[in-house]
Amino acid sequence: MGLRSRHHKAFGLRCYPARHRSVTLLLWSLAALVVVVNVHLLIIHKEEDESISTHEIRRSIMRELEAVEEEKFKLTPPRSRRNPRAVRRKGERKPPTIVDEFLDESSAVHDMFFPELNMAVDPINGGNDSMYFYYPGRVWLDTGGKPIQAHGGGVLYDKKTKTYFWYGENKDGKTYKAHSKGADRVDIVGVSCYSSKDLWTWKNEGVVLRGEEKNVTHDLHKSNVLERPKVIYNDRTGKYVMWMHIDDANYTKASVGVAVSDSPTGPFTYLYRKRPHDCESRDMTIFKDDDGKAYLIYSSEDNSELHIGPLTDDYLDVTDDMRRFLIAQHREAPALFKHEGTYYMVTSGCTGWAPNTALAHAATSVMGPWETLGNPCVGGNEVFRSTTFLSQSTFVLPVPGLPGSFIFMADRWNPSDLRDSRYVWLPLTIGGVPDEAADYSFMFPLWSRVSIYWHKRWRLPEGWRDS
Ligand code: DGJ
Repeated sequence: MGLRSRHHKAFGLRCYPARHRSVTLLLWSLAALVVVVNVHLLIIHKEEDESISTHEIRRSIMRELEAVEEEKFKLTPPRSRRNPRAVRRKGERKPPTIVDEFLDESSAVHDMFFPELNMAVDPINGGNDSMYFYYPGRVWLDTGGKPIQAHGGGVLYDKKTKTYFWYGENKDGKTYKAHSKGADRVDIVGVSCYSSKDLWTWKNEGVVLRGEEKNVTHDLHKSNVLERPKVIYNDRTGKYVMWMHIDDANYTKASVGVAVSDSPTGPFTYLYRKRPHDCESRDMTIFKDDDGKAYLIYSSEDNSELHIGPLTDDYLDVTDDMRRFLIAQHREAPALFKHEGTYYMVTSGCTGWAPNTALAHAATSVMGPWETLGNPCVGGNEVFRSTTFLSQSTFVLPVPGLPGSFIFMADRWNPSDLRDSRYVWLPLTIGGVPDEAADYSFMFPLWSRVSIYWHKRWRLPEGWRDS
């Protein structure tokens, strides 16, 4: 049999006369049309069913969120109550998710998670009932009555002055896009510093590292990016050393910057910017170990992996030693801490200012290997747990005097008005069995679980401040 007739046979077309062939073709076309119409109808029904069930699921999520977040909140109907077909006609394939609505400043969901100034935590005028209580997501006022500006920050405990210092990005400027496809941004104002004795009442110590107004070639020129500043104290040199992410508005410089000061309240002198180990460095943190050795941890290779390497003894540079970890995992916002000889880290995924699922990791040596333990977020509801309580990690602070107790510090970013981004501080504990089995633990978990508990209101144990 020739190739041509074999082919025809395979598709049910024998070598009939031309008239028969046309009739057969017509019949096949009609059959194909019936199939196409049916499949189309099926898709429409399925989409409608999906819209209805998505709608139902979202309504129940909203009910749960209302209960979790604040009973008092009245929500206007979520947008999905619009006819799903109307959404489709406008070209939107899927109804907006809770995270989409959270990011949309005109939505009721957004308002729920960015409560107004009259709900602010006010340590000076707040009254005794709310004393020492953290309210994650509410505006937090300093002792001067102004909202705290310390985003992407970290806390240093200064033994000399027995004082906590909170450093972070001062984003007190207008949010705009440098160009139509650029990320939402605020010009560099500088690094703010706040001091406290109780981790709740914060005094503004001012901008300790200022952005540069005029010199456009300066790394700190306001048109650039300064993020995630962290400060550690060098016992040998007696200097306070600040490391930060330095970039241009398009995040192509991908570098770290280093600044130094004789005092925790600055002013800090900016030294230089570099690409550590000749690698890109975006989200980063530094960690000082018990033995005084310090490390830089940063997202690299287009944010696809993390790198860790020791700092020099004066903390002013990195050494040549560097290990790559969480390769191809696309993690950022690293926050490293240590408990009973084990190193832990919380990271986020890479979704710009949008919240995503946190992961906890552990290692017996700070340089690795690092293993992933799973999502540390506990309580609240599924939306909350899968979005790090609508926030992103920045630092984990050991609570002095309470071994094994930590404060998880995170940012609830508000991309439409970055200066109004909120702080989510929650208790973090270590203990129990992790969600994800470690690679080579043979059913015996080598690691303890890292748990971050959702509380809409909480405080450190009574008596802690006197200890
Ligand atoms: C996520 C990072 O964690 C933030 O520090 C910031 O760089 C944003 N991306 C910018 O989109």
